[in-house]
Amino acid sequence: MPTVTLLPGDGIGPSITESVVRIIEASGARIEWDRRLAGVSALESVSTPLPDDTLESIRATRVALKGPLTTPVGVGFRSINVALRKEFDLYANVRPVRTLLPTYRYQDIDLVLIRENTEGLYSGVEHYVGIGGDPRAAAESVMIVTRFGVERILRYAFEYAVANGRRKVTLAHKANILKYTQGLFLDIGRQMAEEYKGRVEFEDRIIDATAMLLVMDPYRFDVIVTENMFGDILSDQIAGLVGGLGLAPGGNIGRDAAIFEAVHGSAPDIVGRNIANPSALLLAGVMMLHHLEMHDEAERIQAALEQTIREGDSLTPDLGGKGTTDSFTDALIRHL
Ligand code: NAI
Repeated sequence: MPTVTLLPGDGIGPSITESVVRIIEASGARIEWDRRLAGVSALESVSTPLPDDTLESIRATRVALKGPLTTPVGVGFRSINVALRKEFDLYANVRPVRTLLPTYRYQDIDLVLIRENTEGLYSGVEHYVGIGGDPRAAAESVMIVTRFGVERILRYAFEYAVANGRRKVTLAHKANILKYTQGLFLDIGRQMAEEYKGRVEFEDRIIDATAMLLVMDPYRFDVIVTENMFGDILSDQIAGLVGGLGLAPGGNIGRDAAIFEAVHGSAPDIVGRNIANPSALLLAGVMMLHHLEMHDEAERIQAALEQTIREGDSLTPDLGGKGTTDSFTDALIRHL
């Protein structure tokens, strides 16, 4: 039986985590949960937002399911999510989106965005440039792209496509302007695509045109791979194609660990009201079950979620319903 580190997190985190654990257990998936603290809840009880025993647990289990973490306001606190990605070198951020709402303006969306999670403009190499008497006359952020980083994210994207029966990989870039950083990304992508010829179709597109086409004709895409900041933006855009962040899961994958989470935050405005939608975290749980090769349980939960949303009786208010976290969870478990 696999052990998974469970980080209930902050705000609505404990409530949606409890719902997801109930559903995963009801599916018959046998998992031992190692519950650990992170976020503001950890800061309050053990004076650090990311305790060592939490890191040690993830190091041992190599898989975590994580509720949203509130980044404490105040000087000196970096995002704990970023700290976790760095600690475990979680280089691939995988964001699948699929239509679940039968009345939404786009139907039959089925896309996966794979975002490079460690380099690019988000490397954190930034500084001000003083000119004359003004110490902040200019500012620079350095976009770092390494062959190592590009090769591993592109390899991940192609292998993901092969393993998941996906037909096409689109590399979204800005090599027409950023000739070195984005040029390197594009060149390596074109070379690697040759290895997959006949198995996975490949195309490259300029990022701005990709954004437009995603709105006009999202069906032409399948797997999209891109660098860090472009991926950050496009992944929220594709979440919008299926109804927003309430239905958007993400996996942060590295060689030694994988952390699955909802894309949304801790929703402090609705804490304690039993109306948080657990679907995004549940979809992250489904990704986790696939990662653990518990495919049957994952598919059963996915089907039950689709049915519960289609019926619409117990939807939480963010999806236009009058249900609660508990009534939605109960309905879903009945469908399992
Ligand atoms: P948020 O995603 O928490 O909330 C934005 C809006 O969406 C709110 O109106 C909220 O009520 C609603 N919402 C979010 N999730 C929902 C759910 N499951 N069901 C129903 N409604 C939902 O974003 P916000 O307010 O900007 O951030 C709050 C905190 O969360 C901040 O401390 C932020 O740093 C943190 N955060 C953490 C993330 C993570 O752990 N991965 C990601 C994004 C934000």
